[in-house]
Amino acid sequence: MSASEFLSQSPEETIAKGREIAALLRPPVIVLLSGELGSGKTTLTKGFISGLGAAREEEVTSPTFTLVHEFHNHCKVYHVDLYRVEGFRELESLALEDALSGRAIIIVEWSERFSLRTDWPRVEIRLEHAGGDSRRIEIAGLE
Ligand SMILES: Nc1ncnc2c1ncn2[C@@H]1O[C@H](COP(=O)(O)OP(=O)(O)O)[C@@H](O)[C@H]1O
Ligand SMILES: [Mg+2]
Repeated sequence: MSASEFLSQSPEETIAKGREIAALLRPPVIVLLSGELGSGKTTLTKGFISGLGAAREEEVTSPTFTLVHEFHNHCKVYHVDLYRVEGFRELESLALEDALSGRAIIIVEWSERFSLRTDWPRVEIRLEHAGGDSRRIEIAGLE
């Protein structure tokens, strides 16, 4: 698995990185984001979503599970945030398997909270505070 590391110095840089990554995403793929509160998962997701042309940055919030967009070629883009999900029963109630049954790009915040069962290709991204507005972004699994 190829891995790379990037140091972002601002939210804008993180969003730009997200757009760059988005250009390399091919469905089906699940993007697993991990890292503590405020490390930039949602900010990076804004870059993914706007880079994919699925929605505008300002439309990206953090609902637990949302279908952001369905393209004409039937590719769907989902944004999942597991922060408030309390247990496996609640995880199951999200019906993630519905999302996983189609051709989709699924972006998951707080992916470290549960291990999601899927054989889909995965891109794993860890975000870390690195002092002030710096964030270390470690990317694995991106071709
Ligand atoms: N380099 C950076 N990258 C991303 N966010 C940053 C950066 N520097 C400061 N921030 C701020 O940190 C916060 C990150 O929040 P958010 O993306 O919601 O994190 P998370 O989803 O991981 O909880 C935002 O308020 C953002 O403006
Ligand atoms: Mg978030």
